[in-house]
Amino acid sequence: MSHIAAPAGRPLGVGFLGGGPVTQAIHLPALARLKDILEVRHVMDVDPGVASSVAARVGAASSTSMAAVLENPEVDIVAICSPHQFHAEQVIAACRAGKKAVLCEKPFAMNGDEAARIAEVSASTGVPIVVGAMHTFDPGWLAAEQHWGDLPAQAHTIRSSIVLPPNARFEDFATEIITRPATGTPDYSDIEVIKGMMQGGIMGLAIHDLPLVRRFTPDYDEIEVLQARHVRPFGYAVSLRTPTRVIELRAVMNNTWKPAWTFEAISDDSALRIDFTPSYVQAGSAVATFSRGSETTTFGPYGHNGYEGEWRELAELARGTRRAPSAQALIDDLTFALAISGATVQNAAAGHPGATQTAGATA
Ligand SMILES: NC(=O)c1ccc[n+]([C@@H]2O[C@H](COP(=O)([O-])OP(=O)(O)OC[C@H]3O[C@@H](n4cnc5c(N)ncnc54)[C@H](O)[C@@H]3O)[C@@H](O)[C@H]2O)c1
Repeated sequence: MSHIAAPAGRPLGVGFLGGGPVTQAIHLPALARLKDILEVRHVMDVDPGVASSVAARVGAASSTSMAAVLENPEVDIVAICSPHQFHAEQVIAACRAGKKAVLCEKPFAMNGDEAARIAEVSASTGVPIVVGAMHTFDPGWLAAEQHWGDLPAQAHTIRSSIVLPPNARFEDFATEIITRPATGTPDYSDIEVIKGMMQGGIMGLAIHDLPLVRRFTPDYDEIEVLQARHVRPFGYAVSLRTPTRVIELRAVMNNTWKPAWTFEAISDDSALRIDFTPSYVQAGSAVATFSRGSETTTFGPYGHNGYEGEWRELAELARGTRRAPSAQALIDDLTFALAISGATVQNAAAGHPGATQTAGATA
């Protein structure tokens, strides 16, 4: 596990665009453990009450305008934690403002055009971008990566399985949330509701693991959805294949089940299983178990998880002690997610009782 030595000068300054639950319950607790290298200096939210109360918790400036964060010379790293529809424009604005690094919560864009524009701006400004798919920053994943050898080339089966309580339970364990949007009971008989929930499931939840899935799927551009179902109250059961891979994506969020988040990749002679900590829980890293033949090796748990890993990487990027990740890899991850999301929505809608007119539509 890498450790960043405290720099001689001041910690780098962080500014948030969006001070909602993910800022309050995930990023502020992670940053509280990294005070020697990172300091929150500005919290912006369109809700002035959220902006000022969240900023007050950490002694930062607050505002309701994005320009105030981008023009603040004390802010070196911008963290974009607004709802997804604002991400692309805010990433582009933060790059153009010449900040040292940008963290964008997932998903970093909602279509290929936005992704291409981000790539262009990132290339022309040179500002490194990190997308908050935290599992790729988890020391358990990174340790396994050093040992899994040819598994990405040889895997035939890949599974991502997520069982979680609703976010609010963990948010409330982590902190006292200032304002949370009201939620109602969805009308499951409405095909448009199901489509929206499937898209939200893939682009909001599965997206954490899709970069991992893509890593083990060299022919990812030939992905095909075999079956997709919405799972109540919120979740999905999706079967996918490529010419060489069988891929299963499963998720359910409800109040009763024990949290479990696993990723598996299996070939004829080796297997990787990673048990990630649930979102919001910051109590050490994932545990990876790699087996080849009769030998099994376990990696972790290590002292921090992917959220802290993201921030450590951002600090190194902002200081120039680490090379910026490829924007193309982020675009490929997004393109892969969008392809699965689009085909999944179509497939789930075709199987819905309200789909009399769309029967026969396939992924
Ligand atoms: N990595 C993770 O584990 C994880 C977990 C939860 C959410 N998220 C992501 O974080 C992002 C934020 O989610 P959230 O749970 O905080 O809930 P949210 O999206 O409901 O809250 C975001 C906050 O942004 C504010 N906001 C709205 N419009 C804005 C704008 N244009 N500019 C700035 N702020 C604006 C809202 O007032 C609210 O306080 C989403 O993209 C979500 O997918 C990531």
